Amino acid sequence: MSETTTTPFPQGFLWGGATAANQIEGGYAEGGKGLSIQDVMPHGIMSPRTDVPTPDNLKLEGIDFFHRYAEDIALFAEMGFSVFRVSIAWSRIFPNGDDAEPNEEGLAFYDRVFDECAKYGIEPLVTLSHYETPLHLTEKYNGWVSRELIGFYERYARTVFERYRGKVTYWLTFNEINSVLHAPLLSGGINTPKEQLSKSDLFQAAHHELVASASATRIAHEVLPGAQVGCMVIAMPIYPLTPSPDDALAVLEADHANLMFSDVHTRGAYPGYALRYFREHGVELNITEEDREILANTVDFVSFSYYMSVCETADPARKVAGEGNIMGGVPNPTLPASEWGWQIDPAGLRIVLNQFWDRWQKPLFIVENGLGAKDQLVEVDGELTVLDDYRTAYLNDHLVQVGEAIQDGVQVLGYTSWGPIDLVSASTAQMSKRYGFIYVDRNDDGTGTFARYRKKSFGWYADVIRSNGASLS
Ligand code: BG6
Repeated sequence: MSETTTTPFPQGFLWGGATAANQIEGGYAEGGKGLSIQDVMPHGIMSPRTDVPTPDNLKLEGIDFFHRYAEDIALFAEMGFSVFRVSIAWSRIFPNGDDAEPNEEGLAFYDRVFDECAKYGIEPLVTLSHYETPLHLTEKYNGWVSRELIGFYERYARTVFERYRGKVTYWLTFNEINSVLHAPLLSGGINTPKEQLSKSDLFQAAHHELVASASATRIAHEVLPGAQVGCMVIAMPIYPLTPSPDDALAVLEADHANLMFSDVHTRGAYPGYALRYFREHGVELNITEEDREILANTVDFVSFSYYMSVCETADPARKVAGEGNIMGGVPNPTLPASEWGWQIDPAGLRIVLNQFWDRWQKPLFIVENGLGAKDQLVEVDGELTVLDDYRTAYLNDHLVQVGEAIQDGVQVLGYTSWGPIDLVSASTAQMSKRYGFIYVDRNDDGTGTFARYRKKSFGWYADVIRSNGASLS
């Protein structure tokens, strides 16, 4: 599609980038902030946590957004962003998570961030909980295994909804809520090691999050007329490894484990396949009558991250675990992969957009997508930059598929690429796994000045936004 052809992207389509507090802010002990689980997870999600923050944890300083937010938002505005996804660090607002009163300094920080966005007409898209449960809730309550977290989360949600009335319209309740089944500490703040956690405790924790999410949706609709609340899930299309019906059935079951979360969010109740799974796997859940009423508060839209697809098979001999975004899967022999082994599948994005739209008929928002790659800073015409054509190729091909899905009739609200500015990786806690249009001078060993440099992709994305997608090829 050239600039002269019409674009499939509708007027008002929201273009921007997505981040999380724990991966960008730093200032982990400034402004009255309490510790979050990320402050004791120095080596990524698969490594054991530490007892206290250690100096090798790059997230303690992040990319210093806590002090440089104005400079960064100005750069996003230069690219033409109309939306910027951030998360509020729960432990900046309620340092322990269960405090009776919020921390004013924390609230004031996000006032400044949202006011800065407003200066440029950038709509904030705010995640309430992005893998950064207050550490105290993990240590005292075992995270979301405890029902008490629902009340703490409700207090937190109500506090920020009331505080940012008129500043924030779009809210996401939990980042990638379906990841709790795979990464209980990261996603559910659960201290019990995964191998020792019973299925009942794991699904009870998931249930508490689902109730908390629906409750926050209800509160948002009461407190903020016009609020748009979305759930957020990992979207990973699963293809059968072979044409065998057994493999197709294995796909159905794997899909159910992922889709249960958005089914509950959009339908307001557990689907039959989930109840069957609980029955047949000895999962005993405490679901109260009040829980059921709360779950009926369904979301306004469904948002998701999309990085890759996987395969599934019923054949144990072929069921090998590949690399991937938290859950991974059986590698697809037909697809290339990134330097971190995540398989690249632009068409999968069109597929998942169609599946989700057909299933729920709710507007969709792509709130994460991008390529983590090693970048080389070079000098061009006296300026330091990165010639990241590999990144623009990835993003271009995925956005073309978004355009195709829109032509299929799918309603898409917007697109925020992951990490528009380099940030600390969630899975590996590295700086060298870079996603940004903006390079940050910060290295895996903790050296660097935090200086920002525009990559080649910076101008490319600005063109895409300015042309509302017509410049994609
Ligand atoms: C998603 C998370 O799983 O993927 C982000 O919501 C994360 O927090 C992103 O950063 C990319 O993963 P990674 O491991 O490359 O940082």
